[in-house]
Amino acid sequence: MADYILGIESSCDDTSAAVLKDGYLLSNVIASQQVHKDFGGVVPELASRAHEQNIVPVVSQALDKAGIRPSDLTAIAFTRGPGLLGSLLVGTSFAKALGIALDIPIIMVNHLQGHILAGFVKQEGKENRHPAFPYLCLLVSGGNSQIVKVTGPLEFEILGQTIDDAVGEAFDKCSKMMGLGYPGGPVIDALAKQGDPERFKFAKPHVPGLDYSFSGVKTSLLYFVRDEMAKDPSFLEKNKEDICASFQKVLIDILMDKLVKASRQTGIKEVTIGGGVSANSGLRSRLEAEGKKRGWNTYLPEFKFTTDNAAMIAIAGYYRYLAGERTPLDVAPVSRMADY
Ligand code: KG4
Repeated sequence: MADYILGIESSCDDTSAAVLKDGYLLSNVIASQQVHKDFGGVVPELASRAHEQNIVPVVSQALDKAGIRPSDLTAIAFTRGPGLLGSLLVGTSFAKALGIALDIPIIMVNHLQGHILAGFVKQEGKENRHPAFPYLCLLVSGGNSQIVKVTGPLEFEILGQTIDDAVGEAFDKCSKMMGLGYPGGPVIDALAKQGDPERFKFAKPHVPGLDYSFSGVKTSLLYFVRDEMAKDPSFLEKNKEDICASFQKVLIDILMDKLVKASRQTGIKEVTIGGGVSANSGLRSRLEAEGKKRGWNTYLPEFKFTTDNAAMIAIAGYYRYLAGERTPLDVAPVSRMADY
């Protein structure tokens, strides 16, 4: 009999539900919340309320698109954390209620492990390439910047991570401060394509080992723009493409330097990326180029699986289901990675 897994993701500002049949994607519905646009960032209280409105229609749509009834489901995988607590509570409580109603198991998933395994979601009629174990995953999002060694679908080791801001935060905060828009990653990515990445130089941080730091480079960009604007108020408007291209280049340099070091130290040449920032076109082409140069097998996830989505939660939950994991009904969501 086939295993039908429903995935539920509600850790930040996207309500998503997906259905997998034996690891093959049948549906992946995402409702992005528009209420945050005017605030230049996600407002946690508004996010929770929007999840509460979205969750039932999103799950219904995912089941309809998959062409199955609720009673066909084998198990429900949900994001337990890390993320916004109020948002996580909506998905967790919904998963529990549906699990009780259908008398099927629920399986908690770490959001970051979902991103790391996103490439394992299989699709009918596609090549379905994915990295072989062990592999390195550069996990880059609005809340995290990590290099993770993945030994198996349930075995992960964080080799390095940011000691301050995440790289997505650097994109978002700088874009916001320069008045370019939110979320900053896609805006800076688009402007960078039209600019000269060598025009301005920003210093790279010196952090030991495989850890990252993005707060210094963020501040140096903002001070640089402020000082130049004091001399010429139209500086930003005239140079925004070159500023974005130069800033994006330094962020990519920082990310890639440590990834290359991690590959050298571990001897692992299977390399992939995950998380929202892995949608960045500069990072994707740089990873491919670096991979060719160094004899890596590189894997770039499809765009739809880079940002928050329930398909990645469903696949991570599916592996846990196969391994016999079941989550008790008194589980509570956690906001921080350290509490997971
Ligand atoms: O994984 P994700 O959807 O969720 C959170 O971590 O919340 O990542 C969101 C992050 C944001 O910081 C956004 O600016 C960034 O991913 N992002 C990008 C691009 N698209 C999204 N960063 C750089 N280039 C992009 N094209």
